[in-house]
Amino acid sequence: MDQTSLVELKDKISSTYNTDELAKLRLLAFGRKGIVTSYLKSIGTLPVKERAKAGQEANNIRVELENLLQQQLDKIVSHKESIEDVDYIDITIPTDVTYGHSHPVMAIIDDLVKVFWQMGYQVVNGPEIETEWYNFEALNMPEGHPARDMQDTFYLEHGNLPRTHTSGVQVRWMEEHKPPIRVISPGKVYRNEDEDARHAWMFYQVEGLVVDKHVSLADLKGTLTTMIKGILGEDIEIRLRPSYFPYTEPSVELDATCIICHGNGKDCATCGGSGWLELGGAGMVHPDVLLRANIDPLIYSGFAFGFGPERIALIKYAVPDIREFWRPNIKFLRQFP
Ligand code: PHE
Repeated sequence: MDQTSLVELKDKISSTYNTDELAKLRLLAFGRKGIVTSYLKSIGTLPVKERAKAGQEANNIRVELENLLQQQLDKIVSHKESIEDVDYIDITIPTDVTYGHSHPVMAIIDDLVKVFWQMGYQVVNGPEIETEWYNFEALNMPEGHPARDMQDTFYLEHGNLPRTHTSGVQVRWMEEHKPPIRVISPGKVYRNEDEDARHAWMFYQVEGLVVDKHVSLADLKGTLTTMIKGILGEDIEIRLRPSYFPYTEPSVELDATCIICHGNGKDCATCGGSGWLELGGAGMVHPDVLLRANIDPLIYSGFAFGFGPERIALIKYAVPDIREFWRPNIKFLRQFP
């Protein structure tokens, strides 16, 4: 047996890290013209008394090469696995991955939608660019009505406007749907405000509308109580104060007990010491608004409400400035996972 080529073969096997190469080396050992095969063949040409010893030696070499090939194959496979492990925990991938999350105001809207959904409400949408008719006139605010001043309006060319509130959705929905009606409509509204910590020129509103037989102010109060407790906690109380909106009668303002001082008020900067926080407006839908949508106010009554989720977010997350919500300030937003 050619010892040099045997040693060479063994060296090659132990330095190969490729399975295809290893298969070729296996042929060099056991193939038709392989070292072991040729050796076995040559035994027949040896003198009879040497044959047993040579056969034994051939067998030893066969076992040795077989083991060596298997070992190397194991090595290659486990090496591959460890390479795959390294791929899996790729050290070039940053480990401090921050995951995205809902914007705090969107999270409040999601919570609201859930609470109303449980009460059987449907979520509907209206256009952000609105006509004067739906934003004002259909809501009892004809041209020149002083209540229009309450909502500093941006006007667009051709008389349309970015809606100043979501109340136009009430009218649009009533025109197309018959009672019983139970809808909420979250969306953006725009006002030409002087900005400060409590006012922004764009903010969200969530409008609500219920029209059915025998709907009363008590139902409105019950609904608003369920909503506020559902998103701010069971210990929060609400109160309704008399107010005025041309499209509701009677009209109320919705306050909730301050979640910072729990209604105590003393030295509380969040509620200015009153113990209450203003959240929005509401009231019983004005009969004229129902009539305009062909709903008979002698048979049906309804309530409507509109409030700002940013206000709730301000309270819930104790944020001092409402404008922060809509600034591209990632650091600020990351605080509310
Ligand atoms: N649209 C009113 C506002 O923007 C809120 C409101 C909605 C009041 C529905 C009464 C009924 O302040």
